[in-house]
Formats: sequence, structure tokens, C-alpha cells
Amino acid sequence: MTQHLILRRPDDWHLHLRDGAMLKGVLPETARHFARAIIMPNLVPPVVTTAQAAAYRDRILQALPDGMAFEPLMTLYLTEGTDPADVAAGAASGLIKAVKLYPAGATTNSQSGVRNLDAVMPVLEKMAEIGLPLCTHGEVTTPEVDIFDREAVFIDTVLDPLRRRLPELRVVMEHITTREGADYAAEGGPNLGATITTHHLIINRNHILAGGIKPHYYCLPVAKREQHRLALRAAATSGKACYFLGTDSAPHVDALKEHACGCAGCFTATNTLPLLAHVFEEEDALNRLEAFASLNGPAFYRLPANDATIRLVRQPAAQAFPEKIFTEAGPVTVFNPGFPVHWSVEA
Ligand code: NCD
Ligand code: ZN
Repeated sequence: MTQHLILRRPDDWHLHLRDGAMLKGVLPETARHFARAIIMPNLVPPVVTTAQAAAYRDRILQALPDGMAFEPLMTLYLTEGTDPADVAAGAASGLIKAVKLYPAGATTNSQSGVRNLDAVMPVLEKMAEIGLPLCTHGEVTTPEVDIFDREAVFIDTVLDPLRRRLPELRVVMEHITTREGADYAAEGGPNLGATITTHHLIINRNHILAGGIKPHYYCLPVAKREQHRLALRAAATSGKACYFLGTDSAPHVDALKEHACGCAGCFTATNTLPLLAHVFEEEDALNRLEAFASLNGPAFYRLPANDATIRLVRQPAAQAFPEKIFTEAGPVTVFNPGFPVHWSVEA
């Protein structure tokens, strides 16, 4: 049995860091293990302009504890008022690494998102021209569409038509949760990638709903049936270049998770790498963890892989992870996989 594993230092291609006290509390959890992360722009108000992204990047770097290295890769929140010239200038300066499409109303803080794709075509055409990726929250928001079908319907009615209209546009399907998503990504050619979260490799919808409602397993897109979880596992461990890690670690204080209208998001920054080692070991694919966590993402984003390495160690005893982290904004529950984990990251 493999007892240790050395990987290029991983990156997180989809991360929520928030702002203020929460940012200060959660940033070390990511920076401890990850070199870089694509930073989601769904703050209140959202990060819409290059100037706002530059200011947010400064706040992230200020919140980084002394002695920790971490590079935030900034994104812009696409609105129907986004200026193509501002996006192009932000990308040319090296600050902006992607633009995020939230269909209006799809998830946390998405009310400023896009209602009509025609309204943002000039931005998307500019992005296609300069090669700047569009990160998509791939769910329709039509109330008539069942929440468990929203990803598959988005692929058919929004994503596929958009990619036919603008084949040069580079697209990342964020946090895919279905077999349909995994299959579509695999067939999409070099301009299409897909991130997969840690938690969607571990839970299906029963974990959320059977035997009592578990608010800390509720996220968006919501976890689906077991067959979809198995398809995601096969995708993530396949080594295929189109699949890479985006944890979607999305902290909310416990008071807002354990609530009559609980917020969506699983907080996995603290224990993602041990959990991934566990999953890849179960799938007999430890030799492909580096591709998923450290190589495929940089290749899609046309960035070099990290030179530094980390070492994961398999311990005979189950490893203890904190149940919560305590931020100045309040306690945040760490994702609990519900099984003992023997892997840890060596300090
Ligand atoms: C994210 C959040 O809380 O910002 N929540 C989530 O469930 N993933 C938003 C998102 O990525 O959809
Ligand atoms: Zn997210």
C-alpha cells in the first residue's frame, strides 16, 4: 500500500474567500496547501470591474499571514453592464484570469448576474478573441425546471448553443455534478474544461436528505443521485486533461447554514487534499491525483505548473481534522466526509 505521495503543489480553480473577517479566517486554510486559486467574485457588491478586482486582490494579500505564500487569480463577475474594454485591459495587465457567468438568481449573491446572454455577447466575443476563459455556473434558473435537472438543462439550452455560436470561446464548466456534465466536458475539445469539487466526489443527495436534513452538505449545484457521483469519480480519476480540481469551498457561518433558509456551500479548504487522496486511493488512481489537482488546471489556464511540491502521508491511525474553524465572523463547520481518513499533508 502506498504510504506517501509527492505532488506538485496544487491549485484550487474555484474558491470563495469572501471578505473582511471571514477572508482573514479562511485564507490560511487554503494557503497552507495551495499555491494559487481562482477567486470567485460573488461578494456583496460583486467584483465587476478590473479596479474592484485589483482592490480585492490587495485585501486578500493583506489578509495573508506573514510567511505564507499564495497567489490569488482574480476573476470578474459578468453583468449585463460589463464593459468589454475593461475586461480586455484587465486581462492584458495580467490581473484578470477569467470572467464568471452567474445566471441571475442561480446561487449565493447572483442577483446581479446575467438574464439575457445576448446582452453580454460583445464581452464574450472579446474574450473569445483574447483567449480569456469564461467560468460558468451551469444551472438554469427557470422556476419550472426541477433543481436536480438544472445542470443538464443548462448544457442543452444555454452552454451548447453558446459554444456553437462562439466556438473560440474558452469555457470552464464549474463544479459539474452530473454524468451529463462529465460527458459533455469530455467531448468538448481543447476550449472546454470542467472543475470538480471534493464534496461532489463524496456525497450524493441521500447524504443531504436521508435520516434528517444536513445543512452542511447543502451546496449549489446540489449533489445528485449516486450514479452521478460515480460518474464524477470516474472523470476526476481518469487523468483526462479537461477535468481539474475546483473545490468551490464556500464558507458561511454556522448560524446561516443551520437556519430555516440555510445558505448553500460546503467548506472544504481545510481537509480537501487528505479527502482527495482517500478518494483517489479508493479508485486505485493515486498516480492520477497530481494531474487532477496540480497539472490539468494550469495547462487549461495556460500557466506553468508549480515547481514546489507537497507530501501526503498515509498514517495507520485515522487523522483528526477540526470540526470547525473559528473566524472573527463566527464559526464555520469543516466538511465532514463521514468516514475515517488516513491521509494528511506533511507540514
Ligand atoms: C457558493 C457561495 O456560497 O458563494 N455556494 C455554493 O453552494 N457553491 C456559490 C456557488 O458557487 O454557487
Ligand atoms: Zn462557487
